Amino acid sequence: MYPRSFADGDGDGTGDLAGVRARLPYLAALGVDAVWFTPWYASPLADGGYDVADYRAIDPRFGTLEDAEALIRDALALGIRTIVDVVPNHVSVQHRWFQEALAAGPGSPERARFWFRPGKGPGGDTPPTRWVSDFSGGTWTRTTNPDGTPGEWYLHLFSPEQPDLNWDHPDVRREHEEILRFWFDRGAAGIRIDSAALLVKDPALPEVPATPGPGEHPHVDRDELHDIYRSWRAIASSYPDERILVGEVWLPDVERFTRFLRPDEMHTAFNFDFMARPWDAKELRESIRTTLEVHAPVGATPTWVLSNHDVTRPVTRYGRADSSFAFARKRFGTPTDLARGTRRARAAALLVGALPGAMYVYQGDELGLPEVEDLPRELIEDPMHFRSGGVDPGRDGCRVPLPWTRTGVSLGFGPDDGAAPWLPQPADWGERSVEAQSEDPASMLTLYRELLRVRREQAALAEGDLQWLDLGDDVVAFRRGSRLACVVNLGGGAVAAPAGATALLASGPLTPDGGVPTDTAAWFRL
Ligand code: NOJ
Repeated sequence: MYPRSFADGDGDGTGDLAGVRARLPYLAALGVDAVWFTPWYASPLADGGYDVADYRAIDPRFGTLEDAEALIRDALALGIRTIVDVVPNHVSVQHRWFQEALAAGPGSPERARFWFRPGKGPGGDTPPTRWVSDFSGGTWTRTTNPDGTPGEWYLHLFSPEQPDLNWDHPDVRREHEEILRFWFDRGAAGIRIDSAALLVKDPALPEVPATPGPGEHPHVDRDELHDIYRSWRAIASSYPDERILVGEVWLPDVERFTRFLRPDEMHTAFNFDFMARPWDAKELRESIRTTLEVHAPVGATPTWVLSNHDVTRPVTRYGRADSSFAFARKRFGTPTDLARGTRRARAAALLVGALPGAMYVYQGDELGLPEVEDLPRELIEDPMHFRSGGVDPGRDGCRVPLPWTRTGVSLGFGPDDGAAPWLPQPADWGERSVEAQSEDPASMLTLYRELLRVRREQAALAEGDLQWLDLGDDVVAFRRGSRLACVVNLGGGAVAAPAGATALLASGPLTPDGGVPTDTAAWFRL
């Protein structure tokens, strides 16, 4: 959940914890059993909260620490566990440590918690490395000395407002171990670990080699990371009930990815491989096969993710000629067929819901919200947009406040006498609201509610092994256990249902003889 855009309890136009608390019954009725909150901590929101000023305080725009504690308790009473987001790679420039480091000057112990370095070349004008930021541009920003002269540079893999911590420093390790305990002690059932493969840097700060071998990249996937997660796992395991670690690990090499999931490290990590694949049966089968294969030896739960607060909404992405996802390819004005994208997103939901492992649903995907691609440029806040020189639309298009009711100034996002939402909602979103979809048997919301209900009821979906069914090249089909099958048709003509099968749930109308049409998925009882 992106709390800033979920529900606004106090009417200031920004979502908050009071809003979430009031909407907990909605989440329970939807059928989720855990909620991951993107950062809710005190933050200048230079990167939507991933620039944390104080990990032990809630940003006043979202509420108070007491609100968070009450929210965690209320959610649990409805059977919903809470996963909090910990951002260990970097802090906000407003974090006390960074302010102290700036004030203390070069060579100080305060600066040793970060990566401060003199520049290269005459006058130190050239940054220490030519590393490229995940948000485009360079990764170093120069400081100014108290006398106004140019000073040292500091490292930030993301925006200049997010200085990277030095994970070779014992204070940094100790502090994060305490932050983990702080949130576990307040009832968090899990920790989502932001940018989990980036924390450790090669202290020699070399340039990135043209083709780095495993563990050779100076700031991605370094072998030293694993010790950090072993110590975190030990903390999670020290609690009597289950506490889990879920990593944000973007790595193309699946073998390296699963190293983070060894039994004494994280419990799970987001499976971005599946999310990045196009709507193509061969690609999806390959992703599923590899995912299951690599998770089995480490005994970790696979995860299935169609989107999150960083990527293009599924109904938009699947409506495009190129339905794969890559940050570098996001551009304004890409043509989209929303009707087709919606059919495919419905089928994709049934597909991931039938796979072994954990399914993540990003808020608003259950309403089939499209990416908002025409936000007025002056309202865009995402640094990815600015740092790309305005070429990348950024991620605000999937962060637009949710529509809850057909009418009202913010479509029920906030009270009717409240402020306008922090990002404007498209005019037709009243018809996509929770209210409009709740009673409509054909809506995306009804499909998600049914899907999650059947998923809970059918033991085969939790326990059954996966056996592939060969129904043609353009079909993704498999059995779960001996009694249940999922058939997803990505090809041209309809696909016949397995012999003697009865449909349990379908993403769209089946043919009169029970076949599965193009861009449709169905679950069958065998
Ligand atoms: C991944 C988060 O999901 C994203 O929103 C954020 O900008 C980066 N990490 C940096 O913290």
